[in-house]
Amino acid sequence: MSDLSPEALAQARKLSPRRATSEAKDLAELVAEHLAHFGIAPETEMGRSLTRLTTHIYHANISLQELWDLTVRELPKLDRRDRIAWFNAKRFLCFQLAKLLDTLQNPFRATYQSLVGHQSSRLAKGPYPIFDNVAAIFSATPVITRTATYLYACTEWIDDAFHGREMLLEVYSRLLNPTSIALANHIVDLECGPRAPEYMAWNFNSGMAAIDATVSHVVGYRDIILSSRNIYGGAFQLLHDWFQKPGNLDVAVHFFDGYAEADFRAALAKVRAQHADRLADGRQIYVYLESPCNPHGYVLDTPAICRAAHAEGLTVILDATIATPFLSQPLMRDEPAERPDFLIHSYTKDFTGSGTTTAGVVIARNERMFIAKGDAVDATDLSGRAVTYRWDETMFWNVFYVKGAFLDADKAFEVMNGCRTLDLRMLRKATTTSVLAHFLASHPKIRVHSHALEENENAPLRKRLLKLGLPAPLFTIDFEGAGLDRETFTRFFDSLEPAFGLQVSLGQCNTVVLCPALTSHSEMNEAELRAAGIAPTTIRIAVGDEAARHLIAHFIRAAELVIEPVAPGFCAGFMKPDAVDAMVEQTFLHFYSSWLRSQPKLAELMK
Ligand SMILES: Cc1ncc(COP(=O)(O)O)c(C=O)c1O
Repeated sequence: MSDLSPEALAQARKLSPRRATSEAKDLAELVAEHLAHFGIAPETEMGRSLTRLTTHIYHANISLQELWDLTVRELPKLDRRDRIAWFNAKRFLCFQLAKLLDTLQNPFRATYQSLVGHQSSRLAKGPYPIFDNVAAIFSATPVITRTATYLYACTEWIDDAFHGREMLLEVYSRLLNPTSIALANHIVDLECGPRAPEYMAWNFNSGMAAIDATVSHVVGYRDIILSSRNIYGGAFQLLHDWFQKPGNLDVAVHFFDGYAEADFRAALAKVRAQHADRLADGRQIYVYLESPCNPHGYVLDTPAICRAAHAEGLTVILDATIATPFLSQPLMRDEPAERPDFLIHSYTKDFTGSGTTTAGVVIARNERMFIAKGDAVDATDLSGRAVTYRWDETMFWNVFYVKGAFLDADKAFEVMNGCRTLDLRMLRKATTTSVLAHFLASHPKIRVHSHALEENENAPLRKRLLKLGLPAPLFTIDFEGAGLDRETFTRFFDSLEPAFGLQVSLGQCNTVVLCPALTSHSEMNEAELRAAGIAPTTIRIAVGDEAARHLIAHFIRAAELVIEPVAPGFCAGFMKPDAVDAMVEQTFLHFYSSWLRSQPKLAELMK
């Protein structure tokens, strides 16, 4: 008879090399099976020693499960002092467990050395990977796990890993990698806060890979995509040139103008009428949004659009790259219907902030991201419907596992390192954006599309949806009112270096500019460009971390050099230096003091 409850024995069995086939009825039998599996005679001194240790370890796994259950049950009830105590006690347990492993390494290494005696074998194998890695657990930053593959414990554990039931074994770095997983868990914490346990993220090699994976995951042959108009040019190209192509998925792709729920609803009704035949065939409509969006940095009323889409049972994908979790957290809406189903970031931009890597991520509810092979999960979707999700309908198995665009460890580390300063950078960028937008808008011949300006059509949504009403660090200007010929405009643009980087990206440390009609949105035809509010002289400004006055000084000097000789009097239209200085000071004081006031008071933190 077992000395343990069936649950406790089952918990101990999870550590057995025969976890799937064990016939042990108690712990002693489980340990005996364990020794037999590795050919250890139990009656020898070594066998007895191993029996004692293994028995302790199986018991430890039972206690750990108790601790897990207790934590889930009790944590919400504990006050802050007790949570501090529990955290540190568990933290110390990690060191104790690692110390056991470290101590085990000495006899383990000696055994290994006695077996691998040949120099050519030693060289080919390199250092045995289990040795000396234990201390890396306590590295102060997540470890960069540079490996294609992993050691696995035994046949039955790796079988579980292939079914998604053993997360300790990561099998192969195209699928899972500890550094990338550390980042995935981190972005979920940053985006979802207290709702983090409900969400999961998969990292990709670029923002585009994340977009492609998400759209490929949900959209099928002859489905319909309704997208907001001003999306990143690469995303436009993907939907328009690949998904829409009859030889590919023959998807019907439509765009809606405007930023409000009513704009979306009107477009949806039109799309429904236009594609009545496809819908009658069971094809679906999917909603693709980018907010804040390229190139003007305007925000859509995403909560209202999500609500309207979910009321009709539609799935919503939102690219929130430009907001980063600093300016908005669309998954933190209390009302589930107001959240997108899939949230995407290009980490390449402000999230990393250094411009040193390309990477992307998709975040969604657990049941849409991963279910162990063969299983199904009953859930309520964001439309409030009861849905059963099968394992092969989750993003992991449907696209992630098979498409191979996983983010490698070096890049994941780069992203994690960069995002430590996200708060500081975004607040500064929002402030600089406001200064630049006001400075440029004060010129009568420069038109500014930025919701940082109070009179801008998008300012009310910015105030309602972005943190503290801060502006997105992206906007456009155009010179359509200045009557410049193409050559002058081009020469002026080419003179913006070195203060403004002539670079195609956004969300970098330095301020970068491009002409959307020639670069990021060059896939669009003239009518599409016009509909997107992009003129031939539109310049997109993606604000960086520099001081606003340096940028302004260069802008004026470049205009003096190139525009003034062709359009005398142009430079007299710029705001005067004293007025610029006063505006810079006022803007900084206003933004930083409102940020300070938004921070929790000490009494609140002590609760
Ligand atoms: C809003 C937005 N989403 C996605 C992307 C694509 O990201 P990546 O360059 O990492 O592929 C970009 C790129 O500029 C972008 O601006």
